[in-house]
Amino acid sequence: MSDVTYSAPPEPAPVGTARVLVASNRGPVAFSQGPDGKLLLRRGAGGLVSGLGQAAADAPPDEDVMVWVCAALGEADRQAAGRAPGGRLDRAGFDTGRAAVRILDIDPAIFDQAYNAVANRVLWFVQHLLYAPASQPVFGAQFRRDWAAYEAYNARFAEALAQEAAPGASVLVQDYHLMLVPGQLRRLRPDLRIAHFSHTPWAPPDYFRILPDDVGRQILHGLLGADRVGFLTDAWADAFEQCAQALPGVAVRPRQLQVDGGRSVRVGVHSLGVDVGELRDRARQADVAGRAAELAALARGRRLIVRVDRTELSKNIVRGLLAYRELLRTRPQWRGQVMHLVCAYPSRHNLPEYREYTEAVRRLAVEIDDEFAEDDWRPLHLEVTDDYPRSIAALSLAEVLVVNPVRDGMNLVAKEGAALSRRDAVLVLSREAGAYAEMGRAALVVNPFDVQATATALHTALVMPAAERRRRAVELAAVAGRLPPRTWFTDQLAALTARP
Ligand code: G6P
Repeated sequence: MSDVTYSAPPEPAPVGTARVLVASNRGPVAFSQGPDGKLLLRRGAGGLVSGLGQAAADAPPDEDVMVWVCAALGEADRQAAGRAPGGRLDRAGFDTGRAAVRILDIDPAIFDQAYNAVANRVLWFVQHLLYAPASQPVFGAQFRRDWAAYEAYNARFAEALAQEAAPGASVLVQDYHLMLVPGQLRRLRPDLRIAHFSHTPWAPPDYFRILPDDVGRQILHGLLGADRVGFLTDAWADAFEQCAQALPGVAVRPRQLQVDGGRSVRVGVHSLGVDVGELRDRARQADVAGRAAELAALARGRRLIVRVDRTELSKNIVRGLLAYRELLRTRPQWRGQVMHLVCAYPSRHNLPEYREYTEAVRRLAVEIDDEFAEDDWRPLHLEVTDDYPRSIAALSLAEVLVVNPVRDGMNLVAKEGAALSRRDAVLVLSREAGAYAEMGRAALVVNPFDVQATATALHTALVMPAAERRRRAVELAAVAGRLPPRTWFTDQLAALTARP
């Protein structure tokens, strides 16, 4: 008889029943408090939400097939979470669509540090190259406290996913808020198939090195806990691979990395487009028609140069306005003939940088108005409000669409504009937007820092012959609809579950 000591197998971790899980900071539903104190639920929009919504609609009607884990973002979300058993909004009677939603009520102080101080003020800035390094960033003791909060916030997601996931389930983790989750989750549940997808660009190695060395390593190792890491373009995937190359023990081959002495991590590129049919249906609704009539009354026959953005530093709104001013200064023939419509959504106003940026946009808009306004003509109309029907109407009426980000993972406005245009809008597009890879050929491409060249592009757009506008608009619309959110989502899921 051989001398084998028996040891009982470890207690199996409690597992859930979800076969597909999505995790993102911002979830598919958000709550606000009505005047009577009642909680009002609003379904979110956006690529991921509609992609998952459509994928969920295709799934069998088993309530636990798909679970979306997200954070409570404000007080009303926290109240809703408090009413939901185990944070499951669907089990508390809230209509979350076909996907079940688990909302995490994370300590507001931890959430603030993780979301504002780390994710939006550091990681977003690094990936979009937004720092002016002569003075920013400064990583001191406060950053270390914030980073610890980011780790804790990521761990909450990993734990919730570990609880909800069925054995062997597929987990799709989204974006820079949750870069540690894949590694944390693999430690808790090595049986799962884990993907991470970055909706942002990825910084080149020289810029990524701005992060404290150990933090940079933690981020890369966190992502490499996944079976697949996904990016919107080849450029961002290449930059990620170059950063990972610097890690000891990681072997990098194109689109495949070898870690932990043998495990493979695939690198996938999944571009994202828009659902053209859905957008055009939305554009036919009465609220959009109402907004279109208002905008037409404002423009009074003038040709519209449009932009639609969050009030976001990376969107480069200030240089876009400077380019418009340059156009009016150097080509006075356009005065009285055009109008610049700037639709801006308030965004991330907890951060002083964003409040200041929005003020800079407002100031410059007033300056341009002061310099050029005439009795019967206003050169520019700026609105900083969250008004989706107005944005759709503006994109439909645009003759020129300005998309000039400093850097952008994709930029769906470029694609929404192409899908919605009723006037063969000419797209003035930054070569630093992910969308450039697909739309550059049919757009007028600009260096986003070169205000003068951008002004010239605006002029070129305005004088472009109708036949050429048409040809380009047809190509742009075809590109925009090539990979709707549903395809983006199901392709990734298929790639994650395919045998290597
Ligand atoms: C970008 C990010 C998303 C984020 C969105 C809005 O598109 O990739 O993850 O949700 O901006 O930003 P917010 O901070 O309002 O969620």
